[in-house]
Amino acid sequence: MTEWTSKKIRVRVPATSANVGAGFDCLGFAVNLYTELELELTTEDVFEFEIEGEGSAEISANKNNIVTTSIQKFLSRLKDPESKKIIGMRMKMKNAVPVARGLGSSAAAIVSGIFAANECLDRPMSKDELLNLATEIEGHPDNVAPALFGNFTTNITKTVNDQIFVDSFSFKPKLHLKFIVAVPKFKLSTKKARAVLPRKVPREDAIFNISRVSMLIASLTTGSEKFLADAFDDRLHQPYRLKLIPGMDKVFDAAKKAGAVGVCLSGAGPSLMAFTLYRLRNAGDISRAMYQAFLDNKIRSSTKVLNLDTTGAVVI
Ligand code: HSE
Repeated sequence: MTEWTSKKIRVRVPATSANVGAGFDCLGFAVNLYTELELELTTEDVFEFEIEGEGSAEISANKNNIVTTSIQKFLSRLKDPESKKIIGMRMKMKNAVPVARGLGSSAAAIVSGIFAANECLDRPMSKDELLNLATEIEGHPDNVAPALFGNFTTNITKTVNDQIFVDSFSFKPKLHLKFIVAVPKFKLSTKKARAVLPRKVPREDAIFNISRVSMLIASLTTGSEKFLADAFDDRLHQPYRLKLIPGMDKVFDAAKKAGAVGVCLSGAGPSLMAFTLYRLRNAGDISRAMYQAFLDNKIRSSTKVLNLDTTGAVVI
């Protein structure tokens, strides 16, 4: 029997920051920090996985890692019977996205796997189908959507004939933003950060968030700076997560004092995100202030000044 091997595909997928304050589980954006994956699918019974960079010590190089299981799920959904013969893969991963820090490392891993596999097989799935599959694997869409599409993304989930569908809208803001992220040395799993959230919230808090997220989208899409100072506030998740991140409020205060136009928890944390306008040229000051405020609370961190990723997952 002659074995079949796909062409070798190399993809690049951005890190992402979900929620953006009030947009809990609905809003996210992509930044210029990347996971790269080279993939070859084959009918040979072979499994090779090399990892370098962030998480290389802890991501298991056996078949149980999230990249491999995501590719297997992708393959299991294909209708072409020939795809069932694909049992092997060769992968090389280079990861710059900090793991379990609220910067979408699992979304980048899932999307890199299924996006690359889709390219290896000449795109049997559309990008929207990949979004739905990635959301199913990840459990929420707000990281996988910007990882796939780039820019800021808003998502809606709807049920049609008892099936859940996710739709996403990706847009480039009219404000030229810079992002300053402080990544503490400790990890926080999304599961733990979701476990502290209440199942029900007061109506006033729901209204508070709807108004902030509407204001944020209005500011981003029109370029108005007028209401930015309030637009990143949240009452649905950040107040409950405060206790999981020592010094979170102090880091927020320090960033604002140094000139940040907004601050929020990056995804489920523990990384903290500050926003500034490119023209203010104060990203360095904000970065130093955030680092010092974490340190004052005995937390070591690293800071990065990032830009918006506008392409999402791409073949390189
Ligand atoms: N929206 C999710 C949460 C993002 O805040 O739990 C997790 O990365």
